[in-house]
Amino acid sequence: MPSPIFTFHPLEHASFGILADFTAQSPATAIDTFIAAGEEIRTRFNAAGGLMLVRGLHALEQMPEEFVRLSRVFGPEVENYHETLTSPRFFHETVPEILVLSNLPPCNHPPPPKPTGSESEGLPVQFPQQKNWHTDQSYRRPPPDITLLYGVTTPRRDQGQTLYADCTAAYAALNPALKEKIQHLSGIHAPSWIGRTPDDVRAGVQPKDLLPHQQPQRQPLIRFHPDTGKPAVYICEEKQMDFVEGPIAGLEPGPEGEGAELLRSLLRHVTGPDFTYVHEWAPGDLVIGDNRSLLHAATWYDADCYPRLMWRTTVMGNPGTEYAGEAKSWIPPEGYRLMEGMEDA
Ligand SMILES: [Fe+2]
Repeated sequence: MPSPIFTFHPLEHASFGILADFTAQSPATAIDTFIAAGEEIRTRFNAAGGLMLVRGLHALEQMPEEFVRLSRVFGPEVENYHETLTSPRFFHETVPEILVLSNLPPCNHPPPPKPTGSESEGLPVQFPQQKNWHTDQSYRRPPPDITLLYGVTTPRRDQGQTLYADCTAAYAALNPALKEKIQHLSGIHAPSWIGRTPDDVRAGVQPKDLLPHQQPQRQPLIRFHPDTGKPAVYICEEKQMDFVEGPIAGLEPGPEGEGAELLRSLLRHVTGPDFTYVHEWAPGDLVIGDNRSLLHAATWYDADCYPRLMWRTTVMGNPGTEYAGEAKSWIPPEGYRLMEGMEDA
C-alpha cells in the first residue's frame, strides 16, 4: 500500500484553517483521491473552522468538469451560473458551474481599488482600512454554504491576495454583554448595485425599484453552523448591506445610525489580527472557505502587469435550521431570470 497519499498541516500564519497536501499523488489520481476521502476532508475542514488550502490538484486546469465533481464533496448543490447570472462572459465556456473571475477578456473584471495610505504600512487587512469584506451572496435566502476558489493564473505573491476572517473565533471573543445584545438581531443584506450603500444614501441616490426576488434579505447576526453547532458573527462590509432600512433591523438606520455603528464595530473586531489569514496565491492553489463562518476579501493587484484567472464554484443546500423549508428568495416564481448587475458580488 503506497503511503502517505495525502497529509494535513496547520496553515502558516493563521489561527484557523488547514493545508491538505496532495502533492505526493500523481496529478492524474489526486482529484479522485480527494473525492474518495470526502468524509475525512469535510471533518478536517469543519474542525479547522471552515478554511482549507489544497495543494496538488493542478490537474483541475485541464479537467474543469472535475472541479464541479470535487465541489460536491462539500454539499449537494453546485450553483449553475447559466441559470442565475447575467452574462456568459462571467462563467466557464463549457462548465456553467464555474464562475470566472479575471481581468482578462471576456470577463474583464477590474481589480479591487488600491488601498490608500502609505505603502510602507504594508497590506491593510483590518476594516475600515481594508474594504470588501463579505460573505458570498448574503443578499439571498438561504445564502450559499461554501465557496471554492481555484487559482489558474495568479499575480505575484504580494498582490491579489484573498483575506479570510474567522467569525466563529471572533464571536467567542466578544464580551458577554455584546453577545447578549446582538443574539436576536438581524442584518439586512443587499447587493451593491441597488442604491442602498452608505455612499448612495449620503448622495441622496434613489434606491432602485426591485422585483420581489431582488429584494434585500434579513439574516441573523449570529449564525449557528449546521455541522458544528458553533455560533459565528454573520455580517458584511458596507457595500453588501442595506443602509436605507438597515444595516441592522430594528436599530436606527442609515450610514450614521446606531445600526451602522454596531456593524462597523463588529467588522473592526472580526477582521482584527487575531482572526485573519492572508492567502498569497500560487497557481494551482485551491482554497475552500465556509461562507457560514468566515468573511473574505479580495485585494488589489496591478492589472496592467499581471493576468489573474480564478475559477469559483459555490455550494449550497445546508444553510441550517434557520432556513428550513424556505424557497430560494432569488428565484422568481416563474423560474430563473437573468439578474443584471449582480455579477460583481
Ligand atoms: Fe466573495
